[in-house]
Amino acid sequence: MHLSQLLVITGFAHLVAEELRRDVCIVGGGASGTHAAVSLIDQNKTVIVIDREDRLGGNTHTWTDPHTGRLVDIGVVVFQPKQVVFDFFSKFDLPLLNLSSIQWNEPGQPANISQPAAIYNTLRIDTDFRDGSNVTRTAWPDVGAALGRMAEALAQYDYVLEGYELPDPVPEDLYMPFGAFVDKYNFSDAFPLVYQVSQGMGDLLHVPTIFAIKYFNLGDLQALSQGYLTHARGNNSDIYAKAGEFIGSENILFRSSVVATNRKNTTDGRLEFLISTRDEGLKLLSCKQAVLAVPPHLANLRGWDLTDEEHGVFSQYITSNGYWTGLVKGVGMNQTVSHYNAAGETPYNIPVLPALYALAPVGTIDDVWWIKFGANNPTLTDGQVQDYVVRQIQTLQRAVNAPVTEPEWLIFQSHTPFHLQASPQAIKNGFFRDLTALQGGLGGKMFYTGAAFHTHYSTYLWQYNRDVLIPKMSR
Ligand SMILES: Cc1cc2nc3c(=O)[nH]c(=O)nc-3n(C[C@H](O)[C@H](O)[C@H](O)COP(=O)(O)OP(=O)(O)OC[C@H]3O[C@@H](n4cnc5c(N)ncnc54)[C@H](O)[C@@H]3O)c2cc1C
Ligand SMILES: *[C@@H]1O[C@H](CO)[C@@H](O)[C@H](O)[C@H]1NC(C)=O
Ligand SMILES: *[C@@H]1O[C@H](CO)[C@@H](O)[C@H](O)[C@H]1NC(C)=O
Ligand SMILES: *[C@@H]1O[C@H](CO)[C@@H](O)[C@H](O)[C@H]1NC(C)=O
Ligand SMILES: *[C@@H]1O[C@H](CO)[C@@H](O)[C@H](O)[C@H]1NC(C)=O
Ligand SMILES: *[C@@H]1O[C@H](CO)[C@@H](O)[C@H](O)[C@H]1NC(C)=O
Ligand SMILES: *[C@@H]1O[C@H](CO)[C@@H](O)[C@H](O)[C@H]1NC(C)=O
Ligand SMILES: *[C@@H]1O[C@H](CO)[C@@H](O)[C@H](O)[C@H]1NC(C)=O
Ligand SMILES: *[C@@H]1O[C@H](CO)[C@@H](O)[C@H](O)[C@H]1NC(C)=O
Repeated sequence: MHLSQLLVITGFAHLVAEELRRDVCIVGGGASGTHAAVSLIDQNKTVIVIDREDRLGGNTHTWTDPHTGRLVDIGVVVFQPKQVVFDFFSKFDLPLLNLSSIQWNEPGQPANISQPAAIYNTLRIDTDFRDGSNVTRTAWPDVGAALGRMAEALAQYDYVLEGYELPDPVPEDLYMPFGAFVDKYNFSDAFPLVYQVSQGMGDLLHVPTIFAIKYFNLGDLQALSQGYLTHARGNNSDIYAKAGEFIGSENILFRSSVVATNRKNTTDGRLEFLISTRDEGLKLLSCKQAVLAVPPHLANLRGWDLTDEEHGVFSQYITSNGYWTGLVKGVGMNQTVSHYNAAGETPYNIPVLPALYALAPVGTIDDVWWIKFGANNPTLTDGQVQDYVVRQIQTLQRAVNAPVTEPEWLIFQSHTPFHLQASPQAIKNGFFRDLTALQGGLGGKMFYTGAAFHTHYSTYLWQYNRDVLIPKMSR
C-alpha cells in the first residue's frame, strides 16, 4: 500500500506537513551517511539526510571548552593518509596535520596548547582499576618483529580493506577467535599494542578475526610509520559542519527518525519514508533510491518494511559491544601521568571490562580528563556507566592519596551498541555474502553503508563509499 494512502485511511494525512521528493533518501548522517550525501550531490543527485541528533558526524564529536575556547575531539581523532581523506578535507578547504611531523612534548612536560588535544604525552602507569593496585606487565619485548609477522599474516587478507566480499568458502582464519589467529601467526608480542588501539572492540581475544583485522588493519601498520592525520586545529567536527553547509539545511532533517517505510509496494516505483521530526511534525519523503547508513540491528529498524533478505541478515547480529566517551573535570590527580587499566591475572594483562580503558589528562585544559569506557556487551545503561566511572576514579584517587572528589561531567556520549557482530558459524555459513548481496536490492533502489557494511573507521568508510557504494548506485 502507498504510504500516503495509508495516512488517509488512518486519518493521519493532515499531520504530514509536506511531501519532499529527492533522488536519494539517506537515513543516518554520521561518517558514512554524510560522506555519501556529499558524493551523491557531486554526481548531481538531489538528496535528503535524516538523523536523530541535531548535528552531523555521529561518532565524530568535538567539545569546546567555554572558558578557554580550546577543543577536544572526544570521538574520532585520526585518519589514515589515504587519498579519500585528502580529497574530503580539501573539498572544504580544511587543514590536516601529520601527527608524525610535529614535535610532541616530552612526558612530564606540559602540553603544547597550540596543538590538538590528542597530542599530549604523559608518563604511563599500569593500574588495576578494580582496586587501584599497580600492575607489573608481562614483558613482550619483540614488538617490532611481531608487527612484521602480523603484517605478513594480514597481507593474505588485504581484500578485507575493501568491504565484505570474501572468498567462498570463507577462510577459517577469518572466523577463528582473534586470540587463536595471534597464536597461529606468532605475533603475541604485538597484541598489547593492538589491544590498546582497538578500543571499543570489547573482548578482542574472542571476536572473530575478520572484525579485529579490519579495525586495527594493514593500513594502520603502515600509518604507524607514515603518520596519522587529524584536523590541524583538533576540530574534526568541522568537516561535518562544512559538509552540512554543502548539503544545505533544506536537505537535512535533524532530530528525526523513521516512523514507517514503504519501499516494496509503491504505485510509482519510488521509495517512501514517513519521518517524525521534532520541530516540524511528520514528513513524507519520496525518493528514487535510498541509503541506509545507521547501525542495522533490528531494534534500530522499527517501522521499516524489511524484506525477507534484510530481516534474514540483520536478525543474525547476536551481540555488540558497549562504548562510551566523554570528559570530566575535577579529578585533581597529577596531570603528567596517565593510568592505564590492566590486570595481573589476565592474558596479556588486558583490563577486566566493563571499565575505563584509562584515566588520562587532556593536558591542554586544566584538570580535564578523557573518559573512554568499554564493555563486552551493550547492556549497561548510561547512568550505570557514569556511576561506574566515578567509582573507578575515586578508587584511583585513594590509591595515589589524592583527595576523593565527585568529578563534574563536561560531556558524555554513548556509542552503544558499538560494533555489531555475527557468530563464527554465521560467518562460515555466508553471513557476509548475504549482507553484501543486499546492495542494490528492491530492483536497484536500496543501498547500505556504514560500519556494519565495512568497519568502524572513517577513512575506510569513505573509501567504501567512493569505491563500492557510489559506483553501484550509479549503475
Ligand atoms: C570514541 C570513538 C573514537 C573513535 N575514533 C576513531 C578514529 O580516531 N578514527 C576513525 O576513523 N574512527 C574512529 N572511530 C570509529 C568511527 O567513528 C566509526 O567507525 C564511524 O563513525 C562509523 O560511521 P557510521 O556512519 O557507520 O556510523 P555513525 O558515525 O555512528 O553514524 C550513524 C548516524 O546515524 C544516526 N542514527 C543512528 N540510529 C538512528 C536512527 N534510528 N534514526 C536516525 N538516525 C540514527 C546517529 O545519530 C549517527 O549520526 C571512533 C569511534 C568512537 C566511538
Ligand atoms: C499493494 O498496494 C495495493 C494498492 O496500493 C494494495 O491493493 C495491495 O494490497 C498491496 N499489496 C501488499 C502486499 O501490501
Ligand atoms: C554535473 O553537472 C555539471 C554541470 O551541469 C556537469 O558539468 C557534470 O559533468 C555533472 N556531473 C555528473 C557526474 O553528471
Ligand atoms: C608524515 O610525516 C612523516 C615524518 O616527517 C613523513 O615520513 C610522512 O611521509 C608524512 N606523511 C604524510 C602523509 O605526509
Ligand atoms: C607548539 O606547537 C606549535 C604548532 O605546532 C609549534 O609551532 C611550536 O613550536 C610548539 N611549541 C613547542 C614549545 O614545542
Ligand atoms: C605504583 O607505581 C608508581 C609509579 O611507578 C609509584 O610511584 C607508586 O608508589 C606505586 N604504588 C604502589 C602502591 O606500589
Ligand atoms: C615466534 O616468534 C619468536 C620471536 O618472538 C621466535 O623466536 C620464534 O622462533 C617464532 N616461532 C615460530 C614458530 O616462528
Ligand atoms: C570548529 O568547527 C566548528 C564547526 O565548523 C566551528 O563552528 C568552530 O568555530 C571551530 N572552532 C575552531 C576553534 O576552529
Ligand atoms: C607528577 O608526576 C611527575 C612524574 O612522575 C613527578 O615528577 C611530579 O613530581 C609529580 N607532581 C606532583 C605534584 O606530585
